[in-house]
Amino acid sequence: MLPEGAEKKCYVREKFSRVTRRYDLVNTLGSFGLDHWWRYQAARELARFPGPILDLCAGTLTLAKEIVRQRPRLVMALDICWEMLAYGRLRLATHPALSFIRLLVGDAERLPFAAESFFGVSVAFGVRNLAHLERGLAEMVRVLKPGGKAVILEFSRPKAPLFAPVYRRYLRYFMPLLGGALTGDREAYEYLARSIAAFPEPEELAGLMREVGFSEVSYRPLTLGVVHLYTALKP
Ligand SMILES: C[S@@+](CC[C@H](N)C(=O)[O-])C[C@H]1O[C@@H](n2cnc3c(N)ncnc32)[C@H](O)[C@@H]1O
Repeated sequence: MLPEGAEKKCYVREKFSRVTRRYDLVNTLGSFGLDHWWRYQAARELARFPGPILDLCAGTLTLAKEIVRQRPRLVMALDICWEMLAYGRLRLATHPALSFIRLLVGDAERLPFAAESFFGVSVAFGVRNLAHLERGLAEMVRVLKPGGKAVILEFSRPKAPLFAPVYRRYLRYFMPLLGGALTGDREAYEYLARSIAAFPEPEELAGLMREVGFSEVSYRPLTLGVVHLYTALKP
């Protein structure tokens, strides 16, 4: 069973604070390095937008760094888990991108920003972890300027007949082994598989985005549908 509501929020924060130091290594090994390409694609969607950009569920700042690398401008990186942000800052300590990134510990479902503050909002592998998905999406619309763009990168369930069952097993059995061995928290990676299994299908998520007020919602699969990249505009 997956935790829900306030319980999920605490659970997720605690899990990420436990796996912080090895989080990026597990991602890169588990995705054969493709996670960097996925974030590159997400950042590209925002490249024509000036700052400030808001990166939600920013974790160890990998997407924020890529956004700045593609076009240096102010990126506000927000995460509920301060350990993830602090570790990201430590790793970027001597990196020129850090001077463009502001860190903020906060909840993506209750953003501490005025309406219409950002030209772009991004979330990589974060919306699946929200306790109240619609609330998070509605906050994204609220803080975007009219004409601003939201970009969401999230895991999905591949459908290709031969690949899908192999990938399911990979997620269910291999990722907990890998994640468990490297972080000492096997359960965090069992949660990964369960949360992907329980997450809405791309069309459903796109529908929710329209319901909260986004327009021009579209999405495309990356890497055989292991991940989907969603984009939408604030009218
Ligand atoms: C899978 S990580 C993704 C990190 C980063 N975006 C990346 O691409 O690697 C999910 C992040 O979402 C954060 N998170 C979960 N719920 C959140 C919330 N309600 N508000 C802000 N951050 C949240 C977690 O602390 C974690 O750092």
